[in-house]
Amino acid sequence: MQRPRRNRQSAAIRGMVTETHLNVRHLIFPLFVLDGQNIRSEIRSLPGIFRFSPDTLLREIETCMNLGLTNFVVFPAVADHLKDKTATHSHNPDNFYLQTAREIKKRFPECCLISDVAMDPYSSDGHDGLVRDGEIVNDETLPILARMSVAQAEAGFDMIGPSDMMDGRVGFIRRALDENGFIKTGILAYTAKYASAFYGPFRDALDSAPKSGDKKTYQMDPANKREALLEAGLDTAEGADMLMVKPALHYLDVIHLLKENSDLPIAAYHVSGECAMLRAACNNGWLDFERAMPETLLSIRRAGADVILTYFAKEFAEMFPSGI
Ligand code: PBG
Repeated sequence: MQRPRRNRQSAAIRGMVTETHLNVRHLIFPLFVLDGQNIRSEIRSLPGIFRFSPDTLLREIETCMNLGLTNFVVFPAVADHLKDKTATHSHNPDNFYLQTAREIKKRFPECCLISDVAMDPYSSDGHDGLVRDGEIVNDETLPILARMSVAQAEAGFDMIGPSDMMDGRVGFIRRALDENGFIKTGILAYTAKYASAFYGPFRDALDSAPKSGDKKTYQMDPANKREALLEAGLDTAEGADMLMVKPALHYLDVIHLLKENSDLPIAAYHVSGECAMLRAACNNGWLDFERAMPETLLSIRRAGADVILTYFAKEFAEMFPSGI
């Protein structure tokens, strides 16, 4: 007679039969950096998450490293007067983003530092690609992305994170990195990135919303699943080291699909709007953060994510130093 409750009767037995584990080493903490000094400004639509100037960012990273949280993806908030049509600031080796990366890798060589590659933080049009006559053009964007990637590799990033969804960019970037001698710099490909409403707080943080139109001609249709396999096949063939699904919670089926169909590690981005929803409910007293947050991250792992990008990474590390 099967009685599944026998295996649930004590913490010791439950501990033996736990199927899914989550440890801080699986997490990547997204961080926002802006130029200046001594700044730590909270994002209105994502309470508990801050924009840091380079000096305060280094202190934040130090705190995380001491918690065992070693993986970071850094996004720049660029001043409006530095934005232009072709995102020239993105590959200026003296820009504060690249300088900060150099500083981070100098102070914390053992961390894994991941970049963001896309034009939107640096673009006066607020799009991830080059805008010509109202159209986001693909092939002319690729050299810009490649130049940005090489500048980031030079600054010491361990992995390049193309989040732009242009066709062919992984291969284009891989070739540019190799030609410049950066054979060890990895690519975390935003493989199935959807045109989602859940990026709102992120765009608030970076002031990077598109000036006109939306991102539907390059990001994926939320209705589509098989298309994620097409993207995964291309990114794999083009040399990606990890495949990402984004957002995570509303796309658990896509995470599962890629996990079943790929031999590459799968990452999932628990995006700003998904974190904001949970935070809002917890701050209202409607949900218990200490329970709802780990359950949420566990669901993303259970779906098949090896790695999770989440704004809750630091709090997870604080609350569950030895994992769950
Ligand atoms: C843009 C980019 C976005 C995010 C990461 N990179 C937003 C967008 O595509 O508009 C969103 C991440 C989040 O919401 O947490 N290159």
